[in-house]
Amino acid sequence: MPAWLSDAVFYEIYPQSFNDTNADGIGDIEGIIEKLDYVKGLGCNAIWLNPVFDSPFKDAGYDVRDYKKVAERYGTNEDLVRLFDEAHKKGIKILLDLVPGHTSEEHEWFKKSCEPERNEFSDRYIWTDSAFCGIAGHPYIGGEAEREGCYMLNFFKCQPALNYGVLNKTEKWQLTPDHPSCIATREALKDIMRFWLDKGCDGFRVDMADSLVKEDDEVKSATGAVWQNIREMMDKDYPDAALVSEWCNPQCALKYGFHADFYLDHHGNGYNVLVRDCETEGGDHSYFKKDGGDGPQRFLKDYLPRYEGSKDYGYISFITCNHDTPRLTKALDISEIKLAYAFFFTMPGVPFLYYGDEIGMKYLDYVRTKEGGFQRTGSRSPMQWDKNEKNFGFSDADKDKLYIPQDLSDTAPSVAEAENDPDSVLHTVRSLISLRHENKDLQADGDFEVVYTAEGERIFVYRRGKLVIAVNPDGAEARVKRADFKCDTDASGNLIYGIGSADFTDEEIVLGPQSFAVWE
Ligand code: NOJ
Repeated sequence: MPAWLSDAVFYEIYPQSFNDTNADGIGDIEGIIEKLDYVKGLGCNAIWLNPVFDSPFKDAGYDVRDYKKVAERYGTNEDLVRLFDEAHKKGIKILLDLVPGHTSEEHEWFKKSCEPERNEFSDRYIWTDSAFCGIAGHPYIGGEAEREGCYMLNFFKCQPALNYGVLNKTEKWQLTPDHPSCIATREALKDIMRFWLDKGCDGFRVDMADSLVKEDDEVKSATGAVWQNIREMMDKDYPDAALVSEWCNPQCALKYGFHADFYLDHHGNGYNVLVRDCETEGGDHSYFKKDGGDGPQRFLKDYLPRYEGSKDYGYISFITCNHDTPRLTKALDISEIKLAYAFFFTMPGVPFLYYGDEIGMKYLDYVRTKEGGFQRTGSRSPMQWDKNEKNFGFSDADKDKLYIPQDLSDTAPSVAEAENDPDSVLHTVRSLISLRHENKDLQADGDFEVVYTAEGERIFVYRRGKLVIAVNPDGAEARVKRADFKCDTDASGNLIYGIGSADFTDEEIVLGPQSFAVWE
């Protein structure tokens, strides 16, 4: 386990929307370098950079055309290496985004794979043996290539699936995961990883990490074996590099070699019911909703088995949002969001802050889809640095050239304004992250235990190491008697952080409306 992960706080940068230094309306690597001090000032000591590689951008760069080349619109390979170096000087690690399950249909491997004559890349993708034979249970394309066969898709139409084999083979055109061609795909992936690790990147966030071997078993053991093999390489040659999976199954992902796994926004799961439970009948029952929210029980029912089943292997990553998920502002107001952040930044594992969430940027539900974003586009609009500058200081390009239109409402937040407002969510985020850095118990490895929760009550009390933490998202005061605690604590009741009002006496905890407290 790379030691630095134990106190890592990540900032996710969607490069096209962060900071544009060449006035083309699209963010670039130079723009990220310019803002490293800002990232450091938040307390973040690591960055996850969404894909910056050459691509036709039909899925915002998740359709990679060349894994070893930075897309021109972001800069050059040299710029990316400079970003690694400059970030390292400031104590910031950089994770690149690795897309192992598919390439762009414009990748050279795929073009060769489409050729009717057999060649080195014929088996790099999953093909049937007839243009009229499809693939049951998977999206596929036929009739597009001269090659006789249909190929499998991994996501959008532009993303053919790379071939790591099929575990439960039923068709003669399928290859098993131990077939030399499938091993060659895995080795090609390792070669890409080595290319960037050798240049100084600190690891990868891995896209759709569970999608490699098809017709895998329930626990994805064949896909897991690919990652175990990759982890062996990392442990041997890059022991300080981190692997974070987009899997949302830490019990599997961490055992197979990932150091951390995202708690993604899946309808009805523990993360979703905390902050985005808006599709349920009868309104929004999200835990952090002041009115109409539920207690923490649904969250705990989902989270505790994940935590217990994975804590010996690695970390669960809470996210404030990501580029695929509606920003919290879609359903929660700023006071609700502050409490949600307080919770995320005091939980075990490795937290991720999505750019713009530190100022409460809005989810823009009216923007037109961009590069395969569709409903996700509203969370991908350009960063709002300063209201008094052109395009909020994001870019000098004309407004109609911006990657995605910005929030033009009167209430659009900006970094400059938030800096001057002591009540801003920006200050809350900074203070929470610094609280985490100052207290080892709050970091990735500090233990977690439920101290108090009760059916029908919204207050939630938990222990991180020797610290006791309580959150009350409700509009009414809440009390818990010490005698009702479910576990022992020797906390003295000395408040080290608070939002709202809180008291911890010899007899009880009292939390005011919408309050949060950490006691030692
Ligand atoms: C997950 C990524 O986060 C998303 O943005 C992308 O569209 C798909 N994987 C396909 O790569």
